[in-house]
Amino acid sequence: MAIKRSSSQQKSERLPRQKGKRKPTEVKAKSPNSEENILVSTEIVEDLENNNEDKIRPHRLVDYIGQKDLKAVLQIAIAAAQQRQEQLDHILLYGPPGLGKTTMSLILASEMGVNCKITAAPALERPRDIIGLLVNLKPKDILFIDEIHRLNRITEELLYPAMEDGRLDVTIGKGQAAKIRTIPLAPFTLMGATTKIGSLTSPLRDRFGLIQRLQFYYVDELTEIILRSASILKLEIEQEGAEEIARRSRGTPRIANRLLRRVRDYAQVKQQTVITQPLAGEALDIHNVDARGLDWTDRLVLSTMIDQFQGGPVGLEAIAAATGEDKKTIEEVYEPYLLQIGFINRTTRGRVVTDKAYEHLKTVDS
Ligand code: ADE
Repeated sequence: MAIKRSSSQQKSERLPRQKGKRKPTEVKAKSPNSEENILVSTEIVEDLENNNEDKIRPHRLVDYIGQKDLKAVLQIAIAAAQQRQEQLDHILLYGPPGLGKTTMSLILASEMGVNCKITAAPALERPRDIIGLLVNLKPKDILFIDEIHRLNRITEELLYPAMEDGRLDVTIGKGQAAKIRTIPLAPFTLMGATTKIGSLTSPLRDRFGLIQRLQFYYVDELTEIILRSASILKLEIEQEGAEEIARRSRGTPRIANRLLRRVRDYAQVKQQTVITQPLAGEALDIHNVDARGLDWTDRLVLSTMIDQFQGGPVGLEAIAAATGEDKKTIEEVYEPYLLQIGFINRTTRGRVVTDKAYEHLKTVDS
C-alpha cells in the first residue's frame, strides 16, 4: 500500500477517553509562575524559549482546559494542603508525552505560592546533582523530575528517605572510613512524570501519595485550547478553523499549539488575516498531517504492517526493523495514538491493524 499525504477531511470526532540523553547542566529560566526560581535542564529551557511555550501555557488551574478528573483530584489536594499549611503530597503523573505534565507542575506551584524546580532524570547523573537540588528547596517547594523512570539506582535510593522522612543520607568517604551523614531537608513535594509507569521500581512508585494518569484530549477541548492560544498570539481564527487543527492534533495540546504555529506561518505567507477551516486544512496538508492527525511515519507503520505482515499479528521488533524506526519511538510516540483511535489492536500474539485503519488509509491513498 502506497503512503500518500491527504487533504481529505473527516467529520469531527471526539477521542474516546482512555483509561538521547539530556545535557546534565542546569540553568535558571524565567517563568511567570515563580519568577526566576524554575531550575530546568537545558532541553526544557529550549522548549520553553524556542516555542514560546511559556507564553501560552496556562498558569492557573481555572485556565487549564481538559483533564477534568485530574483537576478535581488536584483541587482537593491543594485545598487540603493549604488548610493544613503543609506541602502537597508527592505526585506521580503518567501518560503519553505532550499532555501537560510539566504545565501542571508549574500550575500547582502557582496555586500553592511556591517555587517549582524542573529537571529530568537523565540530568541527575551524579549524587551531587540530586543532593544540590534537594538541599536548596524551600519549605513546600515542588521538585519536578521528568522521565523519572530513568533515574539511576544511587539517585533513586537517595530519594527514598528524602521523600519519606525529609532527610538525605549521604555517604562521606570510602571503604572502612565511610560515614553516613544525615542532612535534614525542608518539607517538599516531589512531582514525577513518566510516559512509562511500568518501568518505575515499586519502592519509588509506592512513595507517591497521588498517582494520576493524563488522558488524551477530546477534540472539543483541543479546539478550546487552540482558540485560547490564538487569542494570546493575537491571531484571528474561526471556530471551524480551530476544529480542523484540533482534529489533526492527536489528542495532544503540544501538537495542537505546534500546528497552530504552522497554520499561522501559512496564513501570513498567503496574506490571509483569518484562519478558516480550508486554510487550516491546506496548511496542514503540506506538512503531511492528515485528517486524523497521522503523519508520514504513522502511515508507514500501518502500511508496513499491512504490506509485509498481512495486517498482523506482528511484534514491535519486527515493525521497527521493517520501518527502520526506533522501537522505543514506535512504542512511546506512535503506537499510543494509533491504539487510542482504534487503528491498531494489541493482542497476545502482536499488533493487528483494524478495519478502521484500512478505511482511513483508503481515504488518503490514491
Ligand atoms: N496549553 C497547553 N495545554 C493547555 C491546557 N490543558 N489548557 C489550556 N491551555 C493549554
